Amino acid sequence: MTRRAVIEGAGHYLPDRVVPNSYFESFLNTSDEWIRARSGIERRHFASSSQTTSDLAFYAAKEAIQNARLNVDDIDGIVVATSTPDLTFPSVATMVQAKLEMKTGFGFDVQAVCAGFIFAVANANALIVSGQAERLLVVGSETFSRIMDWNDRSTCVLFGDGAGAIILAADEGAGTSDDRGILSTDINSDGSLKDLLYVDGGVSTSGTSGKLRMQGNLIFRQAVEKLTATTKQCLKKAGLKEREIDWMVPHQANLRIINAVANKMGISMDKIVLTIQDHGNTSAASIPLALSKGIREGKLKCGDLIVSEAIGGGLAWGSAVMRV
Ligand code: ACO
Repeated sequence: MTRRAVIEGAGHYLPDRVVPNSYFESFLNTSDEWIRARSGIERRHFASSSQTTSDLAFYAAKEAIQNARLNVDDIDGIVVATSTPDLTFPSVATMVQAKLEMKTGFGFDVQAVCAGFIFAVANANALIVSGQAERLLVVGSETFSRIMDWNDRSTCVLFGDGAGAIILAADEGAGTSDDRGILSTDINSDGSLKDLLYVDGGVSTSGTSGKLRMQGNLIFRQAVEKLTATTKQCLKKAGLKEREIDWMVPHQANLRIINAVANKMGISMDKIVLTIQDHGNTSAASIPLALSKGIREGKLKCGDLIVSEAIGGGLAWGSAVMRV
């Protein structure tokens, strides 16, 4: 028998304020047509000024716990992927722990920007498979609207706020790719590519939280190449082939990147869960948001084979193969 980390439930939260592309036309030299054509984004949600990343994470976490028909006492720990924490410390995960009134267990954050949820899943999977935890809450939550430069049309039109969460629990499998649960993960980074995507402030530099800076077209090329490579590697680790995939649940940064990777992998677009049109790029929240929406909409069913991939600042990138 092989110990596996199985998805028991999922939840998500999107702030009430929906911002259409036309909003940006009032103060930037941009258009709804340009944003749709270049990115696939039609609208995004922005958190209210009183909402923090841990608030969004808490709502998504609560829904995931309810969806799995569990109580907080059933959870051993919380892993939150975020690059937009409420405070420099403590972690968002411990803030979620307090909001859930969870008195035991542990919480910590993972920071790998848009690839954060993949890194969080890889960590949570390792904790469960090694027997250090039985059941973990894994959350991706972001308020990227707080680090936008509203004068930079090449970045501020692309991002949104939101949160998604899943529950991963220990289960016994046969040790084959027919098992339910996380079947493989693949994580990578290359710090020499930092200047392609970064935030120009921080605790030990400016003392401010800074604004996002991105060389979008250079990232685009890196993304297509690296996302294809990691996805192929992850499938190889699981002993699976592209044709066996039921659904791809990719990081939602740009519809053209998603298209290009799917094309290289030979995966048809009707096998892809797409939320980018409604959410924009919600960084570490985008994959769990899409997973939760895909389950709610009845697309992702028990037994389906799913592959997720993401790339973000670092650069950091990776993928996960899982059977729901
Ligand atoms: N409206 C109108 N024109 C614009 C806008 C805008 N909002 N933004 C840029 N332009 C202009 C540029 O100034 C440029 O004009 P020029 O030709 O006169 O110089 C022109 O449009 C083309 O610009 P490009 O940057 O070459 O456009 P591109 O087709 O590459 O699309 C985009 C830009 C959407 C940013 C794309 O490159 C992309 O999605 N990149 C990847 C982003 C990504 O995946 N990031 C990683 C995850 S995010 C994270 O980790 C936080």
